[in-house]
Amino acid sequence: MAIERMVEPNLAPDDKEEEQVEKTLRPISFDEYIGQEHLKNNLKLAIDAVKKRGKGAVLDHVLLYGPPGLGKTTMAGVIAHELGSSLRVTSGPAIERAGDLASILTNLKEGDVLFIDEIHRLRRSVEEILYSAMEDYKLDIVIGKGPAARSMRLDLPKITIIGATTRTGALAGPLRDRFGIVHRLEYYKEPEIEQIISRTSRILGTEIKPEALELLASRSRLTPRIANRIFRRVRDYADVNGDGIVDKVVAEKALDLMEIDYLGLDPADRNMLSLMWENYGEKPVGLTTIAALTGDEASTIEDFYEPYLLQMGLLARTPKGRVITEKGRKHLQKT
Ligand code: ADE
Repeated sequence: MAIERMVEPNLAPDDKEEEQVEKTLRPISFDEYIGQEHLKNNLKLAIDAVKKRGKGAVLDHVLLYGPPGLGKTTMAGVIAHELGSSLRVTSGPAIERAGDLASILTNLKEGDVLFIDEIHRLRRSVEEILYSAMEDYKLDIVIGKGPAARSMRLDLPKITIIGATTRTGALAGPLRDRFGIVHRLEYYKEPEIEQIISRTSRILGTEIKPEALELLASRSRLTPRIANRIFRRVRDYADVNGDGIVDKVVAEKALDLMEIDYLGLDPADRNMLSLMWENYGEKPVGLTTIAALTGDEASTIEDFYEPYLLQMGLLARTPKGRVITEKGRKHLQKT
């Protein structure tokens, strides 16, 4: 499945081109990483402390949470780079059996970093293996079945686990407690998104005019992954319909073509807000009802689309459900 929505904050699982481009654009050091200053400062301190302690010292396990597309994987790469360590990347759903995790763990070297994306989706049996690996650097395994089963405890190299999740609430308490460093990634500020697009344009060798930069940044949902994706489509537009330079006119036309409005909302966002307004007006609506209205999964709405609408104050959460705010209503009237 290719990306259906330009503003989809996730990477499509089989969009190899986007994955490849994202890798070439990824900053590798703190100096190159734009934004998330608070997180960077905290991590720098922790990493400097580890380096100062010297041989045998490893960084505490790190949990990064927040909406998708804000750079959790990228930050894991930066951490490994700054530590001078190797990074191994996996994800909760990719680790099917306890044995899969055991084999990943036993193949790591002292000081390596293991990044587990979507860590809230780890199976319970796998999660249990992780507990002792994180706490004591031990692997508890059971050999055999039934009365003949024996448990064994093996030593593991001292490593750092970096977990990423869109929701900390979905994480079991004992797992969450094993992370010494827990941080939320925030939405970027518009000037930071401008810097990110500017950096991308330099790497891809496309000239972009300052007004176009500002315009694209204002429509990118404060999310680097979306900014970079929109930039690439606008660049295609400039190559096909112009001289390859991204100016304001080109940017406007391309954004119109993508039906992205001035707040970065696409037709699916507007459709969701309209359906809520037409059917429920000012009354709160439950998440499952919204999902039934739009035909999406409730978790898709909650994890991927709603966070930005909440951030922008178009939608609000109440104990009885979601309500469209005054700003949301006005936005619908304008678009
Ligand atoms: N590309 C994507 N995210 C980035 C960031 N935070 N800094 C620099 N380049 C990026």
